[in-house]
Amino acid sequence: MDKFDLPKTYYLLDGFTDQDLPKEIIEAINSFRITENLYSSATREITTKLENLNDEFKHVKDRNPIHIITARVKSPRSIIRKLSRRGFELSVKSARENLTDIAGVRVICSYIDDVYLIADLLTSQDDIKVIRRSDYIKDPKPNGYRSLHLIVTVPVFLSESTELVKVEIQIRTIAMDLWASLEHELSYKLTNRKTESVTKELKDCADIISNIDLRMQNLYNITIA
Ligand code: GTP
Ligand code: MG
Repeated sequence: MDKFDLPKTYYLLDGFTDQDLPKEIIEAINSFRITENLYSSATREITTKLENLNDEFKHVKDRNPIHIITARVKSPRSIIRKLSRRGFELSVKSARENLTDIAGVRVICSYIDDVYLIADLLTSQDDIKVIRRSDYIKDPKPNGYRSLHLIVTVPVFLSESTELVKVEIQIRTIAMDLWASLEHELSYKLTNRKTESVTKELKDCADIISNIDLRMQNLYNITIA
């Protein structure tokens, strides 16, 4: 599988049978396809739950706690790279067991309190099981990164079985997302040239942005409550 450039061949091989190609290759590709579909279904399940909560708030409380929801399924290339980097076996089974972020959903909220509100409402639903909760808002990463991360499982109902699929959910405010997006882009561009002063400047920006979040939350509380 590692010798095979799956992202390129993945769609080109559509419709081939084991008469055209070795059986193991067809099986590996099919296995990836089924898995990709499973994770994509899981992101839809989570996204729908979040949209339902947001819509209910709109009608009942006349406001939207969620600003934007985005979802993605990790590409086969990224899955293989991450498995190799961590020394895990390169197989679909190993990816399902060892990676928690094949399915990812990002929720951007207006205010800090909304982040926790959405996390609590989602995780209290009967079919959602929390595997891990990392609160990088309460305890920001040393570089200044802030976000609430949840790893959950959600059931996906298939024709012959029900699969519990892991999804990584990142919940943060618009302000936290501004910083994370720009930091991600800058870090990618700077790779080996990230000096101490750049790191410090980024951390300072994160702290300023965090302060703005607190002030906006206070403003909201004073205005609305
Ligand atoms: P991976 O980093 O995904 O292998 O898993 P982990 O167990 O280390 O989880 P962690 O909570 O550290 O990060 C998961 C994801 O959060 C990353 O893939 C990023 O999308 C995001 N993230 C974590 N740290 C940072 C950061 O410092 N900057 C930015 N921009 N994003 C981050
Ligand atoms: Mg990490």
